[in-house]
Amino acid sequence: ISEIARVKNLNRLQIGRHEVESWYFSPYPQEYAHLPVLYICEFCLSYFASPFMLSRHRKRCNLLHPPGNEIYRYEDISVFELDGKRQLTWCRNLSLLSKCFLDHKTLYYDVTPFLYYVMCHRDSSGCHIIGYFSKEKESADNYNVACILTLPQHQRHGYGKLLMEFSYELSKKEGKLGSPEKPLSDLGLLSYRAFWAETIIELLLNTNDDISIDEIAQKTSITHADVMNTCTTLQLFKHYKGQHVISIPEAVQERYKKGIAKRKRRIHADQLTAWKPPV
Ligand code: COA
Ligand code: NA
Repeated sequence: ISEIARVKNLNRLQIGRHEVESWYFSPYPQEYAHLPVLYICEFCLSYFASPFMLSRHRKRCNLLHPPGNEIYRYEDISVFELDGKRQLTWCRNLSLLSKCFLDHKTLYYDVTPFLYYVMCHRDSSGCHIIGYFSKEKESADNYNVACILTLPQHQRHGYGKLLMEFSYELSKKEGKLGSPEKPLSDLGLLSYRAFWAETIIELLLNTNDDISIDEIAQKTSITHADVMNTCTTLQLFKHYKGQHVISIPEAVQERYKKGIAKRKRRIHADQLTAWKPPV
């Protein structure tokens, strides 16, 4: 039975004005599992079997943004911090929704050990979820991200990198180095590699003096291992007068300058000054 139950069950999900295909199995209750379309309240993430039931729910549901604290706001982007223990139902609904797009992770049905950072686009009708990452309240391995997701309708617009940038800004404020939890999905690995490369190259382009691996790690909160791997992949290590130096080949500079310039949305850390790591 459990084998059968693990095949992809849902077909499509309607969230706000978007309808998307689900990618993987998610353990929604049996009575919802085989509907052609599942209707999701984009604000509380509750799920319904029909548009009628969703619209009846919307008359009672007054939520226009995720519960929890809005810890960041810049232009039309907001980030809310939720505690899995306090916003239990919302975080469980988020886990069910995100499992539709995550294959490799066990679903954290126990949401209580995690904090959730939910990125939204604000307009006159409310705060519309774009994506999120979860983070263990205490990570023995210094992971700064457990799960990260951009909803499919918003992918490939730079929001994954924006979420990653946000996660490292939190690590900087904590005075820690961090890395995402392993294993990463294929898409996760691709995106992190792109993010690490851009972050490190941007720093190097803005630094005149020699810089060490350790200084790169301290300035970016990216772990030494991730800095090393990125620099090795990009072939930034050169022998010069018997020493190892970091330098960026011209072609790499050009490639990354373009990539970095393409990122219109960035995290403005000065909007995060009030945030303190929750204890
Ligand atoms: N094909 C090829 N490259 C891809 C890609 C794809 N489908 N998706 C992302 N990338 C690479 C690209 O280099 C991209 O930069 P570019 O668009 O400038 O070329 C970079 O990753 C990041 O793109 P970005 O738009 O910032 O990311 P995103 O909003 O699409 O989100 C994930 C990236 C990983 C969060 C998203 O793919 C996702 O939610 N996947 C499902 C959940 C998951 O696997 N999470 C990670 C493990 S916990
Ligand atoms: Na309402």
